[in-house]
Amino acid sequence: MSESSQRRIIIFDTTLRDGEQSPGFSMNLAEKLELAQALVDLGVDVIEAGFPIASPGDFEAVQAIAGKVRGSTICGLARCRDEDIDRAWQAVQKAEHPRIHVFLATSAIHREFKLKMGKEEIIQRAVASVRRAVGYCPDVEFSPEDAARTEIDFLCQVVEAAIAAGATTVNIPDTVGYATPAQMHNVISALVRRVPNIGKAVISVHCHNDLGMAVANSLAAVEAGAGQIECTINGIGERAGNCSLEEVAMALRTRHDVYHAQTRIQTQRLVPTSRLLTSITGMHVQRNKAIVGRNAFAHEAGIHQDGMLKERTTYEIMRPEDVGFTMSDLVLGKHSGRAALADRARHLGYNLSGEQLNKVFDGFKVLADKKKEIYDADLAALIEQQSRTVAEHWTLESYDLSSGSGRTPEVTLTVRHGDQVQTTRMAAGDGPIDAVFLAIGKLTGVVVTCKDFRVHSVTVGQDAQGEVTVEVEYGGQLYRGRGVSTDSVEASARAFLNAINRIAAVSVSADRPAGK
Ligand code: KIV
Ligand code: ZN
Repeated sequence: MSESSQRRIIIFDTTLRDGEQSPGFSMNLAEKLELAQALVDLGVDVIEAGFPIASPGDFEAVQAIAGKVRGSTICGLARCRDEDIDRAWQAVQKAEHPRIHVFLATSAIHREFKLKMGKEEIIQRAVASVRRAVGYCPDVEFSPEDAARTEIDFLCQVVEAAIAAGATTVNIPDTVGYATPAQMHNVISALVRRVPNIGKAVISVHCHNDLGMAVANSLAAVEAGAGQIECTINGIGERAGNCSLEEVAMALRTRHDVYHAQTRIQTQRLVPTSRLLTSITGMHVQRNKAIVGRNAFAHEAGIHQDGMLKERTTYEIMRPEDVGFTMSDLVLGKHSGRAALADRARHLGYNLSGEQLNKVFDGFKVLADKKKEIYDADLAALIEQQSRTVAEHWTLESYDLSSGSGRTPEVTLTVRHGDQVQTTRMAAGDGPIDAVFLAIGKLTGVVVTCKDFRVHSVTVGQDAQGEVTVEVEYGGQLYRGRGVSTDSVEASARAFLNAINRIAAVSVSADRPAGK
């Protein structure tokens, strides 16, 4: 079958909405904008940028993405309520292609316990809301929430009514991740067979991963006639997450003999986009994660290595370079020049030039003095660190630490704050990192509660860089900080200061001081 005769599946990414609302994945405005641009570069058709009525921050982010990001449809979520729909439209109206996505639960359990509404009332509310959204924009998606647990006769009625009211996409969510592939296939087939106006809308699926079947369920829906898949980078989302974009895109591509369908996804951007999300949120994917995990293309068993050397297809169904892993991992050393660095960065998906290249190159030289071999992941960490720093109110100048079993650590720590250099000496804490955090708290005057602390090795080897992510609470809000260094105490100090700088940035924009 030729490529042009294959069906095109619309990829609807909800990393910034369903993904971002799950614990540990919150992002600030700049991070959301950066990720939205990366999703455009990846070839995503529709970006669900947020739930505008949920908070002023959500509204602002959807509005900014709609105003600035070009190349994909930008969608805002709304409940079937007038104020939600109006707010969603206000947020997306400047998009090149705006979409409003309205949802209302339809399953018996949601009707009875959550909504306390009968079937007729549900249909009326859905129809009125779709009509209101259509009054604003022609691209309207309707989701009967918990569709996979909705009686099929009622689901057909709701879907027919929503399409008659003007919905151009009808999305079938498996909200609680309860469906099986055969069931999902049956539901979509029933809609195709029984809803008379189904041809006027695209059928979409939105599968959660509570039983680990979100990708399989989405693919079953495609086989039955769905034309849009809702998914997220790294499969993030409510509870166990959503259908993973990278897995479903590579399944469609690798098994085109089965699905006869294609997407617009630039598959070489999958790993860089996955890494971007990881570096923004500090949430790493497991090593054996399909497609983007560190082990996804590593062949350890001798028998596998032997087969690979003879003919790679003996054990490899996809090529690592097709998903954006680079062919050789060992990159640069102390004597590598600016052009080599820029070239390697380009291979990793980063276009560096001008001031940004200079900054990364300076950081690279410092790192190359500490570390003999600079790997791709080192370079990616360096670039991300340089390109995504918040305004640095405080920076680490130096620290000196002495600690040992059974005694209180002693730390001397110096930070720069504008033109001033401030030092403190103290004996405190129940370990060296605690002592450093307490010293930073004392110097900056920003007192936070540390909620999470994670160390991750960027590459292999004893001289590998440690990447530290901290999550701290300040004024009832969570702030994330990230620091990278070959010295894990220094990485911790940098991560902690990064979180404090984020607090200061918010306080400055709100015109109130953080700490002193
Ligand atoms: O899981 C779900 O049902 C949703 C809807 C809002 C589509 O996220
Ligand atoms: Zn969902």
